[in-house]
Amino acid sequence: MCGIVGYIGKSDAPTVLINGLRRLEYRGYDSAGLAIIDDERIIISKSAGKVSSLNERARTDWSPDLFSRSTLGIAHTRWATHGPPTEVNAHPHLDRTGEVALVHNGIIENYRSLRARLEGKGHHFYSETDTEVLAHLIGDCDKGDLFQAVCDALHQVEGTFGIAVLSSREPEKIITARRGSPIVIGVGDGETIIASDAAAILAHTQRVIYLDDDDIAIVTADSVDIRDLHNIPVTREIAELGFDAAAAEKCGHEHFMLKEIHEQPEALANAIRGRLDFNLGSSVLAGMGTSPRELADLGRVVLVGCGTSLHAGLVGEYAFEDLADIHAEVQQAAEFRYRNPIIGNRDLVVAISQSGETADTLAAVREANQKGAFVMSLCNVVGSTIARETGRGVYLHAGPEISVASTKAFTCQVAVLLMMALKLGRGRRFSREDGIRLAREIEMIPALVAKVIQQNDHIAEIAGTYAKCEHAFFIGRGPMYPVAMEGALKLKEISYIHAEGFHASELKHGPIALLEKGTPVIAIACDVPGKDKMLGNIEECRARGAHILGLVSEGDHETAECMDDFITIPRCHPLVATIPAVVALQLFSYHVARLRGCEIDQPRNLAKSVTVE
Ligand code: F6R
Repeated sequence: MCGIVGYIGKSDAPTVLINGLRRLEYRGYDSAGLAIIDDERIIISKSAGKVSSLNERARTDWSPDLFSRSTLGIAHTRWATHGPPTEVNAHPHLDRTGEVALVHNGIIENYRSLRARLEGKGHHFYSETDTEVLAHLIGDCDKGDLFQAVCDALHQVEGTFGIAVLSSREPEKIITARRGSPIVIGVGDGETIIASDAAAILAHTQRVIYLDDDDIAIVTADSVDIRDLHNIPVTREIAELGFDAAAAEKCGHEHFMLKEIHEQPEALANAIRGRLDFNLGSSVLAGMGTSPRELADLGRVVLVGCGTSLHAGLVGEYAFEDLADIHAEVQQAAEFRYRNPIIGNRDLVVAISQSGETADTLAAVREANQKGAFVMSLCNVVGSTIARETGRGVYLHAGPEISVASTKAFTCQVAVLLMMALKLGRGRRFSREDGIRLAREIEMIPALVAKVIQQNDHIAEIAGTYAKCEHAFFIGRGPMYPVAMEGALKLKEISYIHAEGFHASELKHGPIALLEKGTPVIAIACDVPGKDKMLGNIEECRARGAHILGLVSEGDHETAECMDDFITIPRCHPLVATIPAVVALQLFSYHVARLRGCEIDQPRNLAKSVTVE
């Protein structure tokens, strides 16, 4: 979604800002803009479309000299919410005097009433955005102290914000603040970079400060002064990012998605490393912060997430019930706080989120906390809002995921959920020997995934048969049912083929009406409980002319013969097999999308982290 970059230092600010925006392109956006200060005036350049158009625009409008003498500025990529992605709606927005500029992520929910009040005072608005209202409000509050003006304005807004503000009257500082939308400050050597995502900071420094909600910072080239909205100083630690700029590069791959699919053996090894205890037949997940007694007392596990993370939760549901003998259920994070979730202090609520910033999942965390549940998170982005608000949980260690379509985060989420289920299972149901056996299976996951990736060329070849289809159906049973849903989500989001995932048995309750001669059905027919019935479901599809692509267990020639095309999945525990199976479907979707010429890393309309409800 929207991205913020701010810079103050010694380098040419427009170039730094545009490079920073490029690093945030993966998040999804539809217009971009930047503001600098020159000769005591704010100058803005904006463009609908990509950062490359903004770059061309700024380099046409502004002289090279202007570029090189500007050492302070703010910039933004906008994912349209209030008003279409036009130049006029793009950020930065100015206040009435043109002396204050603002970039903003999030949504000002009471912008209509604020706008009406300001209009009553003679303000005129050019855009349809909530952000322009906030820019005017700050300007209206500015009585000569920008910091105080921002504080006063933020006291009046409802909603979420991550902001960066500059004023031509105070050209040696940027004010930044957050509530519900992340802000990270990179502390460099004689330069400070503000961003909504550490990816824009990597090229400058590894030293970062994460703002908390309602923090507001006065940032100069060599200082960061953080206060709360009542002007009381607060202390925030400087953290190390822990990954370098190469982690956010394609490193020779055509797309980030392909790179991230190939990174999975390593990402999974990182997610698993040091977390299996072969002596006790359990797992070591210190971040869960639970005593054996607390684990034994748990009444239920509730998994919440959105999209791909929700699908990981669905696999987790099978894992907790099968392995740990504990009642588990998955709830869509978006619904969680709008129904009446029956949650108590013996329930473990696990929030699953790659970004750790998804608004719906964050809202579910808050609801679960309010209801007294035992809440923890499973996030990839270190220091993200959900990770910090839960305080307890397990990081994925998958490394930065740049492609909008989630791949390595999903497989690492499932691996961590299996380890959590193993830990709970050992306290409830598993013998030491059972635990050791499962730990050995989990340890093998990176190698199993590598075996699927070796079939890349074969999968690319198969993809040719499916690249022209308009619809596709994915079917699975047991833990392969969520894999079918995830396979369908991957295909639809990056190839724009209409794809749906169903429980194989559900087909005949309705969706089978859609099958025609040649309709692709992707059947996950690995050796898991229910496979015989799965074969029956495949025959039902074949009888209606469907073209079947099967995922079959290695050496299962009989099942492979029922398929028009097949991909083999190494033999392993049925829950573990969900991981290599999904990797096969990621590669399949990738190659289909590539053949269709789609913009794989940044699919239309999608954003990497969805910070609005
Ligand atoms: C799909 C995808 C999305 C995300 C969803 C939740 O490939 O990436 O469905 O899974 O937006 O995002 P996180 O995991 O960051 O909460």
